[in-house]
Amino acid sequence: MTSTWVEPSNTAAALLLLGRGTDPDSERGVDCPGELPPPSDPNLVARATAAKAKLGQRVFVLGHHYQRDEVIQFADVTGDSFKLAREAAARPDAEYILFCGVHFMAESADILTSEKQRVILPDLAAGCSMADMAALPQVETAWELLEELGVAGSTVPVTYMNSSADIKGFVGRNGGVVCTSSNAERALRWAFERGQRVLFLPDQHLGRNTAVLEMGLDADDCVLYDPHKPGGGLTAQQLREAKMILWRGHCSVHGRFTLSSVNEVRMRVPGVNVLVHPECRYEVVTAADYVGSTEYIIKMIEAAPAGSAWAVGTELNLVRRLANAHPDKQIMFLDRAVCYCSTMNRIDLPHLVWALEELVAGRIVNQITVDPDTAHHARVALDQMLALP
Ligand code: 13P
Ligand code: SF4
Repeated sequence: MTSTWVEPSNTAAALLLLGRGTDPDSERGVDCPGELPPPSDPNLVARATAAKAKLGQRVFVLGHHYQRDEVIQFADVTGDSFKLAREAAARPDAEYILFCGVHFMAESADILTSEKQRVILPDLAAGCSMADMAALPQVETAWELLEELGVAGSTVPVTYMNSSADIKGFVGRNGGVVCTSSNAERALRWAFERGQRVLFLPDQHLGRNTAVLEMGLDADDCVLYDPHKPGGGLTAQQLREAKMILWRGHCSVHGRFTLSSVNEVRMRVPGVNVLVHPECRYEVVTAADYVGSTEYIIKMIEAAPAGSAWAVGTELNLVRRLANAHPDKQIMFLDRAVCYCSTMNRIDLPHLVWALEELVAGRIVNQITVDPDTAHHARVALDQMLALP
């Protein structure tokens, strides 16, 4: 019997199937309730400048290093996720914190600021695929398994900043700590002073790279917990004996760099220095010359001698900005195929103008709020990070 394909009827789901319409879940914030200016508006820079000037000290704009140039020019402070968390906590007088970054960063800013301050993410679709890889029910299931095996009490949960507020809340409730790529080693040392093993969420690569390359653990001390498999795909013995239980999550941008990207650039550019972010795979980090957070990458390039060559394995907006700022050095993207972080790129000038002009008109748009109970526990884990020795 042959069946003929029939175009689905005109429902929201059918339109999505056909690649049309908007997905109410993944495209949150795309349809702005106000007037989103068209990207072709030649006055966008002037409009953002005027709105920001009208708001004065009432607004403080934070910009992550992976943001577009058109946005970063309006940031009062730029930084990696650790620096931006500290900056948000250090601005009690700003009524509005406008976060040009991604959702988990804005959540952390809301947790670290006072109740009367408002945190705004210009486009709610600026999420993070890595953060989405660890959902609270999955993590709770993993923790219950550790409890059944009698090892939860000797396990310290550590979550990368790149996780949702409820994961940070879980970690705070269970005696753990948040870390970023600039303090992961200190966070792990802190955790191993308190327990025999660490449950590291959600970035397997940062966890493995820090444990093996900085803490001197054996690769065999690390096991990979897959939330999509029963028991994480691990035996009870593996879970009991592991020192690092790595969550199976990764960054879709940094995960693209491969060992052949490193080998290829070394062949092509003799004497090149390979500088990568610790979200890259283990084999990339071990083949690189230097590894560190985005702030570290920037400092390395700034301190590099004129004429030196650098292949940088991190997000493209930052690499391009570094190349433009240092024309006396040869700075290139580590991979031949260029790749932005698509969610970081959601924040563009039209969304920034829209969010600022709405504030001028007395309307708060795209406010990010974390419920008080989650915020309380997440704050414990974030404060612990900020207090790390
Ligand atoms: P850092 O800002 O901590 O270097 O992390 C990079 C990143 O992927 C942010 O999303
Ligand atoms: Fe998430 Fe990676 Fe983008 Fe950072 S660069 S926001 S970790 S997807």
